Amino acid sequence: MSEKTVPVKVWDGWVRLFHWGTVSCVLVSYFSAKSGAWNLHYGSGYLLLTLVGFRILWGLFGSSNARFWTFLRSPLAAFRQLAGFRKPGPDTETTHNAAGAWMVVALLGLLAAQGVSGLMANHDVGFTYSQHGPLANWVSEATSERMTNLHATLINVLLLAVLLHVLAVFAYRLVKGHDLVVPMITGVKEMPPAHATPPRLAHPALGVALLAVAAFGVWYVRRLGMGG
Ligand code: HEM
Repeated sequence: MSEKTVPVKVWDGWVRLFHWGTVSCVLVSYFSAKSGAWNLHYGSGYLLLTLVGFRILWGLFGSSNARFWTFLRSPLAAFRQLAGFRKPGPDTETTHNAAGAWMVVALLGLLAAQGVSGLMANHDVGFTYSQHGPLANWVSEATSERMTNLHATLINVLLLAVLLHVLAVFAYRLVKGHDLVVPMITGVKEMPPAHATPPRLAHPALGVALLAVAAFGVWYVRRLGMGG
């Protein structure tokens, strides 16, 4: 028996741009590093940092359901959510569920750490600009070495977290019949009418302004490094 549903706009274009932009940057960053295409690696790294910086700002000032304090609930709520995972029922969330929210924060933290450590990393001693992150000369050589090691190790943790994330999304499809992927592509989720209260979406101009702030921050850090 399928319950009647109505379409609700749950994810604004900014969250979706961030999500699929991030996925692309992670892929490009990974394969460019493996193939030694360093200029491409630096470019995708700067873009990734811009997107993560933007998402943090959007989590503070953006659409109501994209804000951290809307979707971050207690760890107890997250455990309850996981404990009830096998219970059938329609998808009633207009934001991340309690367990998914902690995964989102973990992914954002890992992405930020991956990007920031890259700014201070080097892959050669006797630095020329194109062989190290822009802040490698601003920290001691020992710190740059530590950041290089962290950058190389953390990618494996990030990839594991991504695997868990994707498996969780597919588990929701298989076990509960909840389709989370289409809403992350189109922005629209089919929901029972009783839960179909749309979130308050922020004005697009705010997205443009916050993206510009994040891009300026990353440009500024890169410029600092070029003068360093
Ligand atoms: C490099 C790979 C990936 C990373 C780093 C990543 C990261 C993230 C992050 C940070 C969010 C939170 C979005 C936000 O609130 O702004 C998210 C949500 C989501 N991601 Fe991914 N993701 C990746 C790959 C994928 C893939 C391949 C899929 C699809 C198969 C996917 C499906 C989703 C869905 C459906 C959500 C929303 C979940 C919900 O409704 O609560 N992700 N992802």
